[in-house]
Amino acid sequence: MKEKILHILNSEKDFVSGEEISRLLGVSRAAVWKHMKALKEEGYEIESVSRKGYRLVQSPDLLTEEEVKKHVTADVMGRKIVHFDSVDSTNTAAKELADKGEEHGTVIIGEEQTAGKGRLGRSWVSPKYKGIWFSFILRPEINPMLIAKVTQVAAAAVVKAGDEMGFDFKVKWPNDIIMNDKKVCGILTEMSAELNQINYVIPGIGINANLDIEDFDKELKEKASSIKIESGKAVDRKELVGRIINNFEELYDSFMADGKGIDSIRICRDKSILIGREVRVIRGGQTAEARVLDLNDDGELVVEWEGGRIEKLFSGEVSV
Ligand code: BTN
Repeated sequence: MKEKILHILNSEKDFVSGEEISRLLGVSRAAVWKHMKALKEEGYEIESVSRKGYRLVQSPDLLTEEEVKKHVTADVMGRKIVHFDSVDSTNTAAKELADKGEEHGTVIIGEEQTAGKGRLGRSWVSPKYKGIWFSFILRPEINPMLIAKVTQVAAAAVVKAGDEMGFDFKVKWPNDIIMNDKKVCGILTEMSAELNQINYVIPGIGINANLDIEDFDKELKEKASSIKIESGKAVDRKELVGRIINNFEELYDSFMADGKGIDSIRICRDKSILIGREVRVIRGGQTAEARVLDLNDDGELVVEWEGGRIEKLFSGEVSV
């Protein structure tokens, strides 16, 4: 009911009378009043004037389905958005929902994560209302070997969305989004699969949107930052997540069509901070120096080891 009221208020710039709302929704005026009160408590600024009715002045900075959908033009991705005020991890919640049959394209968003997960078993700091912590549920009919490409589709979608909003995001293969040499976003893709068949894939995206310097501990501060810190202004979280969902759909469809994800790889290559640089490659606890030559059309990082041997890396951890 609350969502329906919001929908009416959102679609009307002027006042809507309580009588009109109660008629449209088939509930009593008292019920309308009760829901308005609840919405105000959630942070919606609603003006109420006797004999005129209600008018939505401002929505809170929340990533609820109603708020995010104002920015979503995609058909399948984000058709359903599950919003948590607090959740252990959106990837874990997405997996639980997918196990129960949740459909392809559903997006899970948390205002905070109490057990956010990073790659390689690390934790992911996810303070409340400050970031964008979200996961997609995907059910692609592709070879499980191609799953790493989903991470590149997600990275490219973040870059394109950032570009549309005037942020110069770069990509550090395979899954980091960088601003001014600092990590502002990470992607963790998990899946459930049988030998040749995928049950579901969950790309989880964590964006340090409006985190302040105090949100990072001493160690993290050296490598990570937020869009707000790097750009000097707060980000509209709803707009950014909406744009990522839209770009994700476009790039995902293109990946499903060509089976390679060329469009996404091209974006990751154009925005790569690694190509042409000397890097340290960390594999199986060993570190070795290499020069990055390219990101090839298969999404592999082409490196030249000291001594001249060239190798294509399919996955891994690289530092500059
Ligand atoms: C990394 O760079 O280590 C990956 C970080 C991924 C974080 C996101 S936040 C949303 C989703 N839920 C999680 O628990 N992790 C991912």
